[in-house]
Amino acid sequence: IGKNVHYEESVESTQKIAHRLAYDNAPEGTVIIAEEQVSGRGRMDRKWHSPKYTGVWMSIILRPNIPLPKAPQLTLLAAVAIVQAIEDLTDLLPEIKWPNDILIRGKKVTGILTELEAEADRINSVIIGIGINVNPTIEDFPSELQEIATSLFVEKGEKVSRSDLIKRIFMNLEKLYLLYLEEGFLPIKLLWEGYAISIGRKITARTLSNSITGTAQGITDDGVLIMVDDHGKTHHV
Ligand code: BTN
Repeated sequence: IGKNVHYEESVESTQKIAHRLAYDNAPEGTVIIAEEQVSGRGRMDRKWHSPKYTGVWMSIILRPNIPLPKAPQLTLLAAVAIVQAIEDLTDLLPEIKWPNDILIRGKKVTGILTELEAEADRINSVIIGIGINVNPTIEDFPSELQEIATSLFVEKGEKVSRSDLIKRIFMNLEKLYLLYLEEGFLPIKLLWEGYAISIGRKITARTLSNSITGTAQGITDDGVLIMVDDHGKTHHV
């Protein structure tokens, strides 16, 4: 991962470029990194604030030979790789909010957007989009985000090198991905659960089509969240 890097000053969205490169048969591990995204995308059709020079905005192309329903596992794997990279470089204690938000002291520092290119039920490529607020101050965030977002700089009180962070993420991601291909999801699941804050808590899980409130019980072996609602009914989200 990261042997083939496309670096751009300014793009609409690194996801968009990654989709095009994946379609053109870019090798597994290809990464697209931009200094700025003018139309950065978040989950559920949200926007992702991606100003120049203060963050890590990148998309990584993987081509695992796994069945389609297992794709969510890779999002969880990426979350673990990023949490570990932050731990490696700072004394911060990041936590994961299902499925893939990384929080520090309850505020979001990282989002992950995983998208698939598939034909029938075969995965052609998985595109993992990673957005990390590295060095902005709180005032650099739009006012509507100031209460809910944070950055490594805000939490640590010192700048963090974006290139060191990127290198660590590549290393951790490659290590976990190889472990995953060799041994399956179980070791990743155990690591993920160690960082997860949602398990055992009452949460609302929103998808594009509905929302369910209940207690998060854990994740399935496919990386799907198990919830029990107030009527005792179990849902897989
Ligand atoms: C979320 O909603 O939490 C996911 C945010 C993902 C943002 C990253 S930044 C790099 C990549 N390109 C995008 O347009 N989005 C992802």
